[in-house]
Amino acid sequence: MIETSLKDIIPANYELLFSQSEIQNKIKELGQMICDDFKDANPILVGVLNGAALFLADLIRNINTDLEIDFIRISSYGDQKESTGHVKILKPLSADIVGRNVVIVEDIVDSGISIRFLEKMMLAFNPKKLKFATLLHKSIKTIEDVNLDYVGFDIEYKYVVGYCLDDKQFKRNLQDIYIIK
Ligand code: IMP
Ligand code: MG
Repeated sequence: MIETSLKDIIPANYELLFSQSEIQNKIKELGQMICDDFKDANPILVGVLNGAALFLADLIRNINTDLEIDFIRISSYGDQKESTGHVKILKPLSADIVGRNVVIVEDIVDSGISIRFLEKMMLAFNPKKLKFATLLHKSIKTIEDVNLDYVGFDIEYKYVVGYCLDDKQFKRNLQDIYIIK
């Protein structure tokens, strides 16, 4: 067996931003907040693929009440590092969210265009409540007027990768979050 490590796929120009333990501690806090707000209210957490897959997986294990999950997949970046401004639905919701308590779970909010698009789309289904959770927020870059209810970390305007955030679709399997220098 050849000894391997995830460190083998970290390029020299990646700089550590948040370690896996910092990420997990923050997710515990967010899970507690969501649990306080939705105790016994059977929320449905909707993960925005692909980037929020790991965040959703870790978040729900820190919410101590009954809940459902679903996924939606949208695209606005392609393989670029800036939003194209055009959001496409690549995989629609499967669940019926009419009258439900919905929490949209994003990996990162940058321009806010994706969240704004999701908000309009979800409100058309008349959910009982609609809230937004994001692990990361580049608030200085957010041009859309969006109300984020649960934010992990506010970060400066740099492209970040790891913990399911991609570098041209790769590096999602890194456990920590890095800035590309
Ligand atoms: P927005 O529509 O500009 O707010 O961009 C939101 C989406 O773009 C996020 O959900 C991510 O999937 C992706 N994204 C934005 N910034 C980054 C980044 O720094 N690294 C990886 N993906 C990003
Ligand atoms: Mg995303």
